[in-house]
Amino acid sequence: MKIFSGRANMELARGICSYLRHPLGSLTITNFPDGEIYCKIEENVRGHDIFLIQPTCLPVNESVMELLILIECFRRASAKRITCVVPYFGYARQDRKDDGRVPISAKLVADLIMTAGADRVISMDMHAAQIEGFFSVPVDHLNAGLVLDSYFKSLQISTEDLVVVSPDAGSIKRALAHQHRLECALAIVDKRRSSASETKQANLTGASVDGKVAILFDDMISTAGSICGAAEMVKNAGAQKVYVCATHGVFCGNAVQKLNAAPIEEVVITDTIPLTPERMPEKVRVLSVAPLLGEAIRRIHFNESISCLFNEQI
Ligand code: R5P
Repeated sequence: MKIFSGRANMELARGICSYLRHPLGSLTITNFPDGEIYCKIEENVRGHDIFLIQPTCLPVNESVMELLILIECFRRASAKRITCVVPYFGYARQDRKDDGRVPISAKLVADLIMTAGADRVISMDMHAAQIEGFFSVPVDHLNAGLVLDSYFKSLQISTEDLVVVSPDAGSIKRALAHQHRLECALAIVDKRRSSASETKQANLTGASVDGKVAILFDDMISTAGSICGAAEMVKNAGAQKVYVCATHGVFCGNAVQKLNAAPIEEVVITDTIPLTPERMPEKVRVLSVAPLLGEAIRRIHFNESISCLFNEQI
């Protein structure tokens, strides 16, 4: 087994290697003066089981292209198997035709990854579970739910004082899993989206949040419009404290300003996407998914089951 990383999230790659006590493979990646990407594998990979870490995060198109070029490079260098570890899958929100004459870009990205030569994919909390079906190679779709819940359990908030809130109808299934694990009540925000960057929160249904500690769980925070709107609605409904939580902290546009101004106790995310200083909200807590990804890599390499990763905290 050999592990390599693109440039999208070197810190996560180092965390995975440190969990596995395995060295990070040596790779040179640079840009030509016109922006084209160049790479060279600096060690022999012939016949090896390769794990290639690259979340396709900001700058998304650069990250996707770099991943494709790296896969091509490993394929031509005679790797035995190439597993792409894509903890954040960019373009995941373009997963269906929700209007006439629009693309299904998530399917295109899946096709590109397979055409480049990937033999399997590991990803985490992709916006829509059906994206797994866009690939005809095996996909291990992990979720960060246990990592996030273990942090909230460590706060030792009594279950009667706690309410899990789904920030929109699409997140209900995820919220139910958190509600089950945290053994508390559930409320749902009815969100209407008017454009890619504008949302409106219409109603709050389900359990009362009055006087409670509310935790809003989403798959990603992008412009933060959805989560801040929901946080305000929950706070106005009487919540004592509001935590917002997501696997992927995309934080684009003026997300950080919105999060800093919102009535939020803490923004809890994972490290699938690296945080730069200008994309760092004031009250942010970053939990690492490196052990979870590392354990998945280990188990895949040794042909062991990964089912336990969905039920047990690593
Ligand atoms: C939408 O369905 C997703 O689950 C997220 O709620 C959404 O993509 C977050 O985007 P933003 O932060 O821009 O509102």
